[in-house]
Amino acid sequence: MNLTQHTVQSLQQSKTNQEKISMLTCYDSTFAWLVEQSHIDIILVGDSGSMTLMGYPDTTHASIDMMVSMTGAVRRGASKKFIVADLPFLAHRQGIQHAIQCVDNLIKAGANAIKIEGLDGHAHIIADIIESGVPVMGHLGLTPQSVHSLGYRVQGKAPEQADRIMNQALQLESLGCFALVLECVPNRVAAQITQELKIPVIGIGAGAEVDGQVLVLQDVLGMNPTFKPKFVRHFLDGAQLMLGAFNQFHEQVQSQNYPTNEESYHLESNKAP
Ligand code: KIV
Repeated sequence: MNLTQHTVQSLQQSKTNQEKISMLTCYDSTFAWLVEQSHIDIILVGDSGSMTLMGYPDTTHASIDMMVSMTGAVRRGASKKFIVADLPFLAHRQGIQHAIQCVDNLIKAGANAIKIEGLDGHAHIIADIIESGVPVMGHLGLTPQSVHSLGYRVQGKAPEQADRIMNQALQLESLGCFALVLECVPNRVAAQITQELKIPVIGIGAGAEVDGQVLVLQDVLGMNPTFKPKFVRHFLDGAQLMLGAFNQFHEQVQSQNYPTNEESYHLESNKAP
């Protein structure tokens, strides 16, 4: 299998060549090992891990320690994939020194690039991180770290809102961001931004006319059948498949069909000659 090992430059080339980019979240070593063997272009160690792995209600609970720990685990599972790690809630709002320290920790843990939500009030921090030589992916539209002010609502339906997102996208590009995530914006708005920007635009709930798509790993695997926003597609009935395996294990323990003699260790003296 010929697997691409991406760089910032090759991702830019994907846009130029009109090759769609796939990005999947991942938070642990086991799944990272599997994703490493797939054709997925980018792994995102998203702060959504605070919800999917840790069970918190939203991403404001992701800490830098949590992000560093997940990034390290993913890098140990996937040694070659291009990994983007989220800068967690408020890490970019506590001054440049704090932001740079967090970025340093994430890069040392194995990230190739950092994703930062929003722009207003921290454009200078984004510029500083980029100037320091760290690639930054922007994130506009529905920004989950702002859940308490924005809610989980589609952004950019009204023309003035759409114009604001377009202007922010252009500003992020001129600051030097290498890519942009657009979350939950109308497809026409996302298409226009994708046409205007030279950098790749990766959508989630942003329609088809973008340069790529990102989804959360647990959603792709159908781990929670009741969680199905409009844009999510379950590519596997993972919950049912795994429940089946758990119950088979339980039943075979109860019926004493597990473990068999072959699945047991034996004393030297019991070995067949
Ligand atoms: O943390 C995450 O999963 C994300 C995606 C929704 C883009 O930021």
